[in-house]
Amino acid sequence: MTPFHIPDYIRSIAPYIGGKPIEEVAREFGLDPAGIVKLASNENPLGIPDSAKRAMADAMAELGRYPDDAGFDLKRALCEKLGVADDWLVLGAGSSDILITAAMTFAGNGGRVVHSQYGFVVYGLAAQKVGAQATVVPATAGFGHDLGAMLAAVLAVDEDEPASLVYVANPSNPTGTFLTPAEIEAFLDEVPAETVVVLDEAYTEYLDPQQRFDSVEWVRRYPNLLVSRTFSKAYGLAGLRIGYGIAQPALTNLMNRVRAAFNVNALAQAAAVAALADQAFLDASYAVNRDGYRQLTAQFDAAGIAYIPSSGNFILFKAGDAADAGAKANVALLKSGVIVRPVANYGLPQWLRVSIGTKPENDVFLAALPAALQATR
Ligand SMILES: Cc1ncc(COP(=O)(O)O)c(C=O)c1O
Repeated sequence: MTPFHIPDYIRSIAPYIGGKPIEEVAREFGLDPAGIVKLASNENPLGIPDSAKRAMADAMAELGRYPDDAGFDLKRALCEKLGVADDWLVLGAGSSDILITAAMTFAGNGGRVVHSQYGFVVYGLAAQKVGAQATVVPATAGFGHDLGAMLAAVLAVDEDEPASLVYVANPSNPTGTFLTPAEIEAFLDEVPAETVVVLDEAYTEYLDPQQRFDSVEWVRRYPNLLVSRTFSKAYGLAGLRIGYGIAQPALTNLMNRVRAAFNVNALAQAAAVAALADQAFLDASYAVNRDGYRQLTAQFDAAGIAYIPSSGNFILFKAGDAADAGAKANVALLKSGVIVRPVANYGLPQWLRVSIGTKPENDVFLAALPAALQATR
């Protein structure tokens, strides 16, 4: 016991476990870092766009000063793209920052948070960090959000005092499952006005054109909706930590008071402005992902490997029937210099999540896979 007055909800927080860094795997398994393929954190295999590198080089000279806390240039670019006023935006150090700031703003001091089983790990963590009570709603048979059950959970304890916050991811991670616009709209229609809905769209840029929808229009219609997005995935800026939220000013105004001052650094802001304008990079990211998805799933199909159809830049696949199949296949892949993500912490110990890489990266993963799956038997 420490002498500090630490609430139980803080003591019980399990640390976030990210994808293993390449250097760590190289040290652990005595491998050459140059030969290691990392497909563990849903990063963009094309890396950072050149346009963003140039913008950062230009921004370097001013790094002796604090960044623009209002994020003027980036907000202006986002306003133009999204067709909203700047007070409909809140910037974050990654969209994780938006997700956590939402919990701090709307669910602190004993609030109640609802999220789906297999939902992104940060939802539960955010609830814990602010001492909120989390209700985890069982997923559908297809591993997706059961919005009907989530609505019931929002109302469950007391219809007069519904949940403070509900997280909905579309597409969801680590499952890649997709909710249709009609399903989301029906949900938004039913959720009580007092419950803030966070629609996490970290992977929205990877949706097929026929799956796309205009969630900004929903933000106009639903005063309790916050859409969160990120520059970490399709825009290739994961290391810079930058994302944003879109909501009506009644929500963003509060979040802007709660978030840390200067939470988004100047290089990240400059890079994001450049990346937002770089349609060619976004198109290339989409195309690499679409081709990689076809490459990986064709091989999974041919080998009879079960996987969840994914709308993101990653695929959840079943490593085997043994209870520890995911862990065993993971170690075998690591020894071959391939880093994927175990998902036992999501209650999926037989599964692994692989991020979609470039064709050569996917080739390395697919070449190592049969022996790794054999190791689970
Ligand atoms: C569903 C989902 N939301 C949000 C994030 C947060 O990403 P970032 O904080 O880099 O924006 C992730 C990252 O993997 C994610 O999978």
